[in-house]
Amino acid sequence: MSSSPVRKWIARILVGLVIFTIALIFALMTKEFIWGGSTGHELTTLDPQGKFSQSIQTLVNPVFAIAAVVFVLVMGGIGFIAWKFRDRGDDDDQFPVQLHGKTSFEIGWTLLPALILAGVGVFTVLTLIDLNKPAPQAIQVQVYGQQWWWGFHYDADHDGNFTGDGDVTTATELIIPVGREVQLSVTSNDVIHSFWIPALNGKRDAVPGQSHPWKLEAKTAGVYRGQCTEFCGLSHANMRMLVRAVPEDEYEAWIANQQKTAVEPAKGSQAEAGKNVFLGQLCSSCHLINGVNNDKVEGPKGVKSQLVSGVAPDLTHFATRGTFAGSIFNLYGPDPATADDPSGNADDTSLPGNPGGALTGGDSAPYPFNQPALEAWLRNPPAMKPAYATTPTVVDGVPLLRGMPNLGLSETQIDQLVAYLETLK
Ligand code: CUA
Repeated sequence: MSSSPVRKWIARILVGLVIFTIALIFALMTKEFIWGGSTGHELTTLDPQGKFSQSIQTLVNPVFAIAAVVFVLVMGGIGFIAWKFRDRGDDDDQFPVQLHGKTSFEIGWTLLPALILAGVGVFTVLTLIDLNKPAPQAIQVQVYGQQWWWGFHYDADHDGNFTGDGDVTTATELIIPVGREVQLSVTSNDVIHSFWIPALNGKRDAVPGQSHPWKLEAKTAGVYRGQCTEFCGLSHANMRMLVRAVPEDEYEAWIANQQKTAVEPAKGSQAEAGKNVFLGQLCSSCHLINGVNNDKVEGPKGVKSQLVSGVAPDLTHFATRGTFAGSIFNLYGPDPATADDPSGNADDTSLPGNPGGALTGGDSAPYPFNQPALEAWLRNPPAMKPAYATTPTVVDGVPLLRGMPNLGLSETQIDQLVAYLETLK
């Protein structure tokens, strides 16, 4: 039974279109994956900038090559067989010779994939063991995820404790010295998050009640973006972080400054009024400014108050950071913020939130302080970053917030608070 020539041609054109579409998709994916790193994409894993991410890349390259060879052989084989044994319209109703049950073939196509996977498995396990090896001599940082930002406790006085007197607590931005190993202990204060700086290493889950070791190292000074990669609630996508790798001496200077208590505002200044707003309003029951409201907070540099997670970001040296609110807004932005673009950097793909000095990874001139973005944030945080801040979650009969609520501050209070926050260098 032969089909009409027209139907044959339609079938051929359809098959051709399907093959063309698949080839196009693969070409685009390959372009995105292979060259993504050199086109300014912040979260590519294929542009390693440190030895740990490099070891992952070194593992991925041969695996990708093997997979590509297998892909070409299998797809080529299928194509060849489909063409060779196509319906020629001369079917004599004879059943072709069958290969089923041929022992040598069965052993061959069981053994070959098993050997390939075993080879890949050995190198994967070796890489994992290396990545998970503890580094006791490294800089020790406890990383904690919270809805919806990242906090960092540095064991700055090397006493094995992360939150003692000589230690440093900061949020959103992790400052590390270039070329030094940093040993992280990753944990969470509420739900499961996942810590990921793709240019520097793979992902590590942040699980409440557990501490997972992980390591970072950057080979050059610069800014490396990260993103929470475990769905953790409304603002999961707004839970970003960044690493600023700076020269060793600049890192030491940064640590020394962070160890200090907050700068005292000048008498009679707008900033001093802002400090009083901070103390008089709810701000001071969740945020710590070291040297200002330590007596109001429970536990080591933490607060047990109105948040499910317990603490809000430490603001002692707030103005030394380039970004705020989970690193989604620039505190020092290249462009002025507008209502449509509160981060003030929609069109800018250069350094995110440039606070000036060594923290920019080379460029020492800071961008202007992004006052409009900070004002908009204080006016109504849940509008700037989705959260359950207006509808408290009741935990043990107590209404608790996730994220920063709208405090109903007046414009005068907002101006005073912004003036104060800007002094917290
Ligand atoms: Cu934290 Cu997603």
